Amino acid sequence: MSGEKKYSVVVVGLGKRGMHHAEAFANNGRFEIVGLCDIDNARLEAAAKKFGNPKTGTDAREVLKGLKPDVFCFCTLPQLRLDLIRAGAEAGAGLIAFEKPIAMSTNEALEIMKLVRGAKVKTVVSHQHRYGEHYKKVKEIIASGAIGRVHTVYGTASGWMMHMLTHLIDYTRWFNDNTEAEWVVGQASGKEKFSDNHPSPDYIAGLIQFANGVRGIVESGDGAPDVPEVDYWWRKCRIGAQGTEGFAEVLTGGGWRAITKDSGGVISGPGCMDYAHDMPPYIQEIADWLDDPKKVHPCNGESAYKGFEIMMAICRSVVQRGKIKLPLGPGEPELEALEKALS
Ligand SMILES: NC(=O)c1ccc[n+]([C@@H]2O[C@H](COP(=O)([O-])OP(=O)(O)OC[C@H]3O[C@@H](n4cnc5c(N)ncnc54)[C@H](O)[C@@H]3O)[C@@H](O)[C@H]2O)c1
Repeated sequence: MSGEKKYSVVVVGLGKRGMHHAEAFANNGRFEIVGLCDIDNARLEAAAKKFGNPKTGTDAREVLKGLKPDVFCFCTLPQLRLDLIRAGAEAGAGLIAFEKPIAMSTNEALEIMKLVRGAKVKTVVSHQHRYGEHYKKVKEIIASGAIGRVHTVYGTASGWMMHMLTHLIDYTRWFNDNTEAEWVVGQASGKEKFSDNHPSPDYIAGLIQFANGVRGIVESGDGAPDVPEVDYWWRKCRIGAQGTEGFAEVLTGGGWRAITKDSGGVISGPGCMDYAHDMPPYIQEIADWLDDPKKVHPCNGESAYKGFEIMMAICRSVVQRGKIKLPLGPGEPELEALEKALS
């Protein structure tokens, strides 16, 4: 039975997120880890011991040689994307699972998408917060029509752009039924975070015009509104929708709340972003997509590209001082241009 097939997996980059992925693949029952790779030998050895001593190595291409895995998963810092995508596609992987943000620039993201579309490789990107019960509750309330006609979707995070902004955009797009964006306007300030391993302006804000008339508002970094109910920086995200008859929003580390046309006041519930809760369904839906091409993963790479494109368009708007229309073509690498433009 195709439903029982075990899928082979190679995992590259065994830091925080690589270990989350390897654990979730190993615990799922539908996957077998056949290869592990990290440039750090101690991490590699510890992971190999934990996951049944598969093939290991410090070079992803060497590990991939002769394996042709069903899934190639890599969880490296943002600076390493295109080369590993190419390695996975050349090895004949059926699906590549990788981390946000998908690239460092539009140029790189366009190359990645050309490569995976050409090779017909499925891609999945880790915007897995959406599996939180509080996230799902907010989506359910919005989709039910209980807040009336949605006119605004919004997302704020005190975490900086290359860490957090594609998360915010991904979930605001989801709350707005993944509607296409037509144009954006952006503003940013501060250069300190450009030296971080997720190089970013200290603060960035964007307005998004979606094709269904809904306005998107996103802010990320030092200067975005605080979420005082939540104690930890990367959980200080507020993401939601306002409609003609109410609102519904999720706090990544602080549950959900809403006012709907029938609620008679504020209603709320618990929830806190938790990898142990969110990774298993994220990984299960990878198996589901491999089993049945119609069951496209909600975190598919085409959707992640749309979110990344919005983020890069906001950067371009800061530099060019005006509306940026989507879709984007190649151009000056956004982060470099932004760093130059900011005083
Ligand atoms: N989706 C989420 O909720 C979430 C949360 C945290 C981080 N992230 C993202 O995950 C990515 C990785 O973050 P992390 O915190 O796991 O980083 P990390 O530094 O803990 O792990 C990265 C690993 O990659 C290894 N590595 C580097 N170059 C390599 C190479 N050439 N070949 C093989 N291995 C290599 C490093 O040795 C390290 O072990 C980032 O893009 C980050 O934004 C996502």
